Amino acid sequence: MDITPLLSQNALSMRRSQIRDLLSVATRPEIISFAGGFPNPATFPLEELKDIMKEVLETEGYAALQYGSTEGVVALRKEISKLYKREEGLDVPIENILITTASQQALDLISRIFINPGDVVVCGLPSYLGALQAFWSYQGNPYGLRHNRGLDEACNVLCATGKKPKFLYSIPDFQNPSGETMTLEEREYAVGVAQKYDLLIVEDTPYKNIRFSGESLPSMYSMDPSRVIMLGTFSKTFVPGFRLGWIVAQPNILDRLIVAKQSADLCTPAFSQMVAAKYLASGAYDENLKKTCALYKRKKELMVKSFEEFMPEGVKWTNPDGGLFLFLKLPVQYDTRELFDIAIKENVAFVTGEAFHCDGGGKHTMRLNFSFASDEKIVEGVKRLANAIRQLYAKHA
Ligand SMILES: Cc1ncc(COP(=O)(O)O)c(C=O)c1O
Repeated sequence: MDITPLLSQNALSMRRSQIRDLLSVATRPEIISFAGGFPNPATFPLEELKDIMKEVLETEGYAALQYGSTEGVVALRKEISKLYKREEGLDVPIENILITTASQQALDLISRIFINPGDVVVCGLPSYLGALQAFWSYQGNPYGLRHNRGLDEACNVLCATGKKPKFLYSIPDFQNPSGETMTLEEREYAVGVAQKYDLLIVEDTPYKNIRFSGESLPSMYSMDPSRVIMLGTFSKTFVPGFRLGWIVAQPNILDRLIVAKQSADLCTPAFSQMVAAKYLASGAYDENLKKTCALYKRKKELMVKSFEEFMPEGVKWTNPDGGLFLFLKLPVQYDTRELFDIAIKENVAFVTGEAFHCDGGGKHTMRLNFSFASDEKIVEGVKRLANAIRQLYAKHA
């Protein structure tokens, strides 16, 4: 049966994730993949979790296997509230926290309650593809900005032409994919612009605590909790398989999101929330996170060193103090989609930068993940990629 005529306008405006498609190519065992945003499994506390899971089943009994409330397990929301207190000195009452099936669901729920067909959402160029996908799913229209400093002017033009943005989407810490972190002034400026044009900000913070050096900066939420919706996740700091994230927002916003979540999945599994709550309460989370950051720092340095050693002329890269990614730029005339085909023949994979540009730009850019591959594979993969880039250069010489 041909279902195409039956599809909704929302379904028709959905776009496939190039990353997910690339990942399926990159699973061949001979390929060294820098493509996915995968945490390193060595950071997963397997043994501790075995004990905690048993304990949860023994102490919580059937409640651990039952439906839970849509807002989420109170013990976990309390632990998240404590996390904000010790990390940022921020008071976040549990009434302002909604547990989500990781932050991808948060992006979906936010899009669902705010975006009407054609609505504009201002985001970065580049920006996280999963967020763009969520906006497109509700027929939203992401408007990409290359430089934060152009925000005021862009909002002015958009408002003057009847396209007032519904919200600004920002990943202020070690952004996916660029690795960039907004300065304090940039955060204050963005909040000021949101206040000037009466806009919401969606502040997505999965990498905030994957910091290798330097001090963490205040969240935009702390600057204006009334208009900032802050997203958090345990995917990069604990385990992605539990699919646990959360939204911090004022009750008037959270109430709407709770209703949206009721029709999405009723609740996030109580069992994984209870296990996470116990893990956090034991103090092991903070200890494990320190080790995770140390591991990723070393891996990032190894990848950067390998770039310095093997990359041909003209390739530029970022060197962030945290996160999971390095962002590379070839000279502007080259296309990383063409490079991808050569790289796959060389058995190395990455994500083409175009996937993160809602304006179709960024063709000469690419994202590389450094957290997942073994040290040997990082060095060997960079050698292969450098070799592929040389072949691309030679093809166009
Ligand atoms: C910026 C950003 N937001 C959200 C997500 C979704 O993460 P999760 O749904 O695992 O919490 C990711 C994943 O890579 C991300 O990079």
